[in-house]
Amino acid sequence: MEWTNFPKLELGKGTEGRILALPLAKDKGIAKTMIGTTPIDNDFYKGGSRLLEYKNKIIIAIGVESDKDSRKFGNAAWKAAEAFLGPVKFHLVPDFLDEEKTLEGALLGSYKFSKYLTEKKERPWIVFHGSEQNMNNALLKARATFITRDLVNEPTNKLYPESFAEMVRELFSGSKVEVKVYPYSWLKENGFGGIVSVGKGSENKPRLIVMKYCPTKTKPILIIGKGISFDSGGIHLKPTGYIEDMKMDMAGAATATGIIYGISKLGLQKDVIVITPMAENMPSGNAAKPGDVITMYNKKNVEIWNTDAEGRVVMADALAYGIEKFKPEISIDLATLTGACVIALGERIAGLMGTDQKTMNEIKKAGEETEEDFWQLPMAKHFAKKLDSDVADFRNSASKGYGGASIAAAFLKNFIKGNWVHIDIAGPATSKTGWLWNPKEGTGFGTRTIIEWLMNRK
Ligand code: BES
Ligand code: ZN
Ligand code: ZN
Repeated sequence: MEWTNFPKLELGKGTEGRILALPLAKDKGIAKTMIGTTPIDNDFYKGGSRLLEYKNKIIIAIGVESDKDSRKFGNAAWKAAEAFLGPVKFHLVPDFLDEEKTLEGALLGSYKFSKYLTEKKERPWIVFHGSEQNMNNALLKARATFITRDLVNEPTNKLYPESFAEMVRELFSGSKVEVKVYPYSWLKENGFGGIVSVGKGSENKPRLIVMKYCPTKTKPILIIGKGISFDSGGIHLKPTGYIEDMKMDMAGAATATGIIYGISKLGLQKDVIVITPMAENMPSGNAAKPGDVITMYNKKNVEIWNTDAEGRVVMADALAYGIEKFKPEISIDLATLTGACVIALGERIAGLMGTDQKTMNEIKKAGEETEEDFWQLPMAKHFAKKLDSDVADFRNSASKGYGGASIAAAFLKNFIKGNWVHIDIAGPATSKTGWLWNPKEGTGFGTRTIIEWLMNRK
């Protein structure tokens, strides 16, 4: 697998360099003395940014309000350099800002999925004025996010359950993360009725992937990521306008992979196990049909009411298996689960549900640190009622009604023992426009926040 590269990066010192990107605060002397030349139009950031010439130097001056704007500054500096100056070496000078976050913003903002473009542009070169440790931390968090983005962006003819398993194997070969891949035959023999039902209609058969990073051999944190490499809807085929970008339906699996990459490289002393149930949801003569009754890994019988509500079905098997096998302290699942969550919260905010209020609070807090938004949605008991079935223990979807994100969570709850947090990333996992340092298409949303949460956890 060819991963997206960072721009060229080196450490700088003092005030060397001809092109400087500087934060510009109203009350900061250094920036004030440099103003007075002709500003070139550039409105990357509300505080104002301008290109200035000063004593044979070019200055990218970007208005910021406080050190809370560190990532915004880094991002705006990169974008101004790229748009206005081209393939130049520019000195990123955080000055009074947070060094790590400044570089993180620049790196995250520099992402471009260009592996399938035959013509590649030359890009600016960052000279970072900060400590080596801050540089390495920023690189690592951005690298984890790039891994998530790259996996989400990979087209479905290249990324399907089997090839995803190979990508993960290669990514972690020789590292502290142990990878196990369970084939379709094993899933059939071991009662994974949900994953088998969702994946059997495709030529590309399902896989279950387990990634383990266990330096302490204590109770692990279990992270499950939805890995539908393409969600056509199955027999409930999605219409035009809804099907085109469904290669992104494995963003949960991509995020979980980015997270375990990040924490293993940081060397965190915390056991983490990631499980990604991988399947392709396709219509065919062999596909699951509405009305099918399937027996799940936990022996519950489910009536497949809608073949497009497939994510919860694969997640349920993976959750039940992971909880039984690894007896985790907490289970966290990440999934592009429902369109309803996007309708409720929009495209930049993830839905937070579950049974573990303390962890939900902690994740929301970690999101404030990483500038990713999470909003809690209800788990009221009446949502489960909508899944009542006449022929099986319950259905996989409601026949009608609102509150789809909560109904999906109510379905998952049937497969949970112990502490559990469910994160619906259907909105923010991808973007049509991009925002801040989040690019179009795969954003990597959630990767940095869960890493942050794990780093802060006692
Ligand atoms: N993968 C989709 C959810 C989704 C929608 C993700 C839009 C990203 C953007 C999921 O499998 C799905 O199709 N959900 C259905 C559930 C319904 C049939 C109960 C939905 O949300 O419409
Ligand atoms: Zn679906
Ligand atoms: Zn789906």
